[in-house]
Amino acid sequence: MSDLYAIESADSLPSPSLILFEDLIDRNIREMIRIAGSVDRLRPHCKTHKMPQIVRKLLDHGITRHKCATLAEAEMLAEAGAADVFLAYNIVGPNIDRVVAYRKRYPAVRFSVTADDPRPLASLSRRMAEEDLTIEVVMDLDTGLQRTGIAPGKTAVELYEMLSTLPGIEPGGLHWYDGQYRQTEIAERKSAVKGGRLALDQLRDKLLVNGFSIPRIVVGGTGSFPIHAEYSDPQMELSPGTVIFHDAGYGSIYPDLDFIPAAAVLTRVISCPTENRVTFDLGSKAIAADPPAGNRCLFYALPGAKEVLQNEEHLVLETGKPHNLQPGDAQLVFPWHICPTVALHQSATVVRGGKISDEWLVQARNRVLTI
Ligand SMILES: Cc1ncc(COP(=O)(O)O)c(C=O)c1O
Repeated sequence: MSDLYAIESADSLPSPSLILFEDLIDRNIREMIRIAGSVDRLRPHCKTHKMPQIVRKLLDHGITRHKCATLAEAEMLAEAGAADVFLAYNIVGPNIDRVVAYRKRYPAVRFSVTADDPRPLASLSRRMAEEDLTIEVVMDLDTGLQRTGIAPGKTAVELYEMLSTLPGIEPGGLHWYDGQYRQTEIAERKSAVKGGRLALDQLRDKLLVNGFSIPRIVVGGTGSFPIHAEYSDPQMELSPGTVIFHDAGYGSIYPDLDFIPAAAVLTRVISCPTENRVTFDLGSKAIAADPPAGNRCLFYALPGAKEVLQNEEHLVLETGKPHNLQPGDAQLVFPWHICPTVALHQSATVVRGGKISDEWLVQARNRVLTI
């Protein structure tokens, strides 16, 4: 494995532990800014790291806009000093009162949320108006992912008209998360992202012609933001998230991107049940268990080994031939999917210049902080 991942006195670290390589994080942030062309065109998503230390790094670079998926992340962002927070999530049920509480707690933060349905939007408007508050609502569009969002057509125009006139609600623009584009061939991905975006641009033009205000369009994730970045569009905000830590999954899907995995998990052999099998303390409570099984992480040191079983605290590898590992041997592995992996850990050990330098809490892994 490359010297980038050397750790002095790694023997002292318990396993399984999440390890962050700060020099690589800094490098990934610089690369993200380079691709965007300017810090003003970025609204990075904090869902991957969930940590105030990373938010402060982004603020130090001059990145003022931030994106999140939970109210806990929104609170972490405000506490870390972010002055513009976009919660890209539809607000329903008791979260409406939590949004009210957030607006009261952080009146100076420019706070926006999404909506794609008139019913919860009407409830949010009612509560905001009752409290004499306002909130910006960004209309969430379905990019074809069919996860959330309203199709960019006639009903979307009606919904935007509604959110532009409801009391307590201010029109915040459009949200376009097109994470479904996973073409490894960059030319193919580019044509899919640009083809998909036509519907966004047409809708925006129509809304502008009808006199509505579109203060921003928030677009993209790791695979698509470099393509959106090719557009010169003053209202556009690019919202990648994974890039800051990067992972083995995106490294394999998007070979055109020059990000380096900056987060790893330190694991140890806990048993050698047969001469061809080795078991690590790397269960589904230590590393993300996204389907399909057999692809949890890259073991650079064990090429050809296959993951054959994962339980809560065990990962069993079949090495195909007798191995010479023994209980206690440590390995650094690179998660296929870093975002849920980070959320499994209470804190991360930080390595800078090859030395253990700090321990950072994964603060917003909790669903509720104080609000
Ligand atoms: C709404 C939204 N925006 C932005 C992102 C960031 O995308 P990525 O993780 O590909 O960088 C995500 C990721 O899940 C997302 O759901």
